[in-house]
Amino acid sequence: MAYEVKNEQLRKWVEEVSALCEPEKIHWCDGSQEEYDNLCSLLVKSGTFRKLNQEKRPNSYLAWSDPGDVARVEDRTFICSLSKQDAGPTNNWMHPKEMKETLGKLFKGCMHGRTMYVIPFSMGPLGSNIAKIGVEISDSPYVAVNMRIMTRMGKAVLDVLGDGEFVPCLHSVGAPLQPGQKDVPWPCNKEKYIVHFPEERSIWSFGSGYGGNALLGKKCLALRIASKIAKDEGWLAEHMLILGIESPEGEKTYLGAAFPSACGKTNLAMLVPPDNFKKNGWKISTVGDDIAWIKPGPDGQLYAINPEAGFFGVAPGTSAKSNPNAMASCASNTIFTNVALTPDGDIWWEGMTDTPPAELTDWQGNPWTPGCGRNAAHPNSRFTSPASQCPSIDPEWENPKGVPIKAFVFGGRRNNVIPLVYQSFNWSYGVYLAATMGSETTAAAVGKVGDVRRDPFAMLPFCGYHMADYFNHWLQIGRTNPNPPRIFSVNWFRKDANGKFLWPGFGENMRVLKWIVDRANGRGSSIESPLGWMPRHEDLDWSGLDSVTREQYYELMSVDRDVWKDEILSHEELFVKMYDRLPKEFLHIRELILSGLWRSPEHWEQIGEAAAEGWNE
Ligand code: OXD
Ligand code: MN
Repeated sequence: MAYEVKNEQLRKWVEEVSALCEPEKIHWCDGSQEEYDNLCSLLVKSGTFRKLNQEKRPNSYLAWSDPGDVARVEDRTFICSLSKQDAGPTNNWMHPKEMKETLGKLFKGCMHGRTMYVIPFSMGPLGSNIAKIGVEISDSPYVAVNMRIMTRMGKAVLDVLGDGEFVPCLHSVGAPLQPGQKDVPWPCNKEKYIVHFPEERSIWSFGSGYGGNALLGKKCLALRIASKIAKDEGWLAEHMLILGIESPEGEKTYLGAAFPSACGKTNLAMLVPPDNFKKNGWKISTVGDDIAWIKPGPDGQLYAINPEAGFFGVAPGTSAKSNPNAMASCASNTIFTNVALTPDGDIWWEGMTDTPPAELTDWQGNPWTPGCGRNAAHPNSRFTSPASQCPSIDPEWENPKGVPIKAFVFGGRRNNVIPLVYQSFNWSYGVYLAATMGSETTAAAVGKVGDVRRDPFAMLPFCGYHMADYFNHWLQIGRTNPNPPRIFSVNWFRKDANGKFLWPGFGENMRVLKWIVDRANGRGSSIESPLGWMPRHEDLDWSGLDSVTREQYYELMSVDRDVWKDEILSHEELFVKMYDRLPKEFLHIRELILSGLWRSPEHWEQIGEAAAEGWNE
């Protein structure tokens, strides 16, 4: 042991795991730079890492995974509550006893020939009363170095922990080495299990080295287990970015925004306002890009922290144009996974530059040239970068008290149906809109890309208990809060009949954020639509943007009655699935939306030219 461990429970657990997994060695991580550098050298030696060009990409490494281990495996992810009903219809379930038997067999001797790393980590600033401590045991040095970037990791965590409680997180790549057997660069197992025991508050992950399956502080602890703790304790653990918007007058407004995986959360969190806005003094700052823990403060307002310390960002599409802050964040001290390698030892991915390099080595180690018909980088390739390197990082991002949240924004990737932006009439409507959110599937999870699936609150893969109980929990938060944040829906991805995006997105999203900030602070004009309050053309700031015409704007905002009939019927599909625990409010809200859709055309004329012009009756 490199240092003294006072926590009896931890020592005991490490002994038990070691007896089960039979590693060759145990390494207690101290979290130092020296340890990080040594582990990276070890990963270079074993062929997992390639050190990148020190001038172009200082202290950075590239890993190529096994081609069968590139994304989260939702069909192998389990919520093992004591009762099947508590896991709900959207989670895979097995009885904890049965699952422990299965896992016990898989974990027996699974670390032969490997070092077992004990990785203490804090989700949230060390010592914050919102933070939680976990300890991950893993036989993957790749996990240990990624955890050092993504969390506050090392001995200092144990000093804070003392003899307190921690969440035990056990991980193995599931690839024991026989004596004399040579290791592969990316060990993993065909059989994969990502398992959560919500009552016991523990995690077991077997067979995968991919971030979302193996960095157990992130999706497993900070969302699935934390969502259950949050429900029990009266707070929220959400798949949300947190950003700050500062007006020219110095008014600072923070909001939390939930989008499904690979739908631009990192881009929105690091948005660069259009030139006109910048010139006038508008600023955007980043608190987090993926997860928010939100608790009521002593003044009744909701306060949010980012439990993570780094970004595990989707690489493809990220460029100096689309997200200069992300590019600066990964300029050094970064681990890249499954991106392409340039001949001079730097990295490249689709969309990084307008013109691809003339030659590359692709993420599977094969020669690549433009037009060869293959992706150079995997669509779910990632960068792991320290959040402190982000130029737009908010000065309050490590404030243990969190930042006050004024608005929640929910968005999916929908090429039709959902307008650019609207504000829900009230909290319950907002919970309904978030609960019925849909999105086209992306490469962040294994499966078909592009199908629309309901992804309530962007939490479908991350809620550690019955989703309808989760809706009720959100309703309850609104009931107990005297002035809850305002709730908005956005859709940056709507297309015209020719399949062309109607909205330019990226920095131009600032125009929508400005309206949201106004509304959240009790200002800003709007009109009533069947779905909620909507900005008219004249309610948005168009300065410096002439590529979106007034007609195009109303196409973006249109609510088509027939299309919405189908949309509402598909809400019904979700509700039927959760019938036993569905909040009664939802049925009434559905009826109210329908009733709004059946208003006469004259009604539109009354509420404004915009509605008559832009919204189909
Ligand atoms: C992520 C995801 O990695 O949502 O953030 O898949
Ligand atoms: Mn995510």
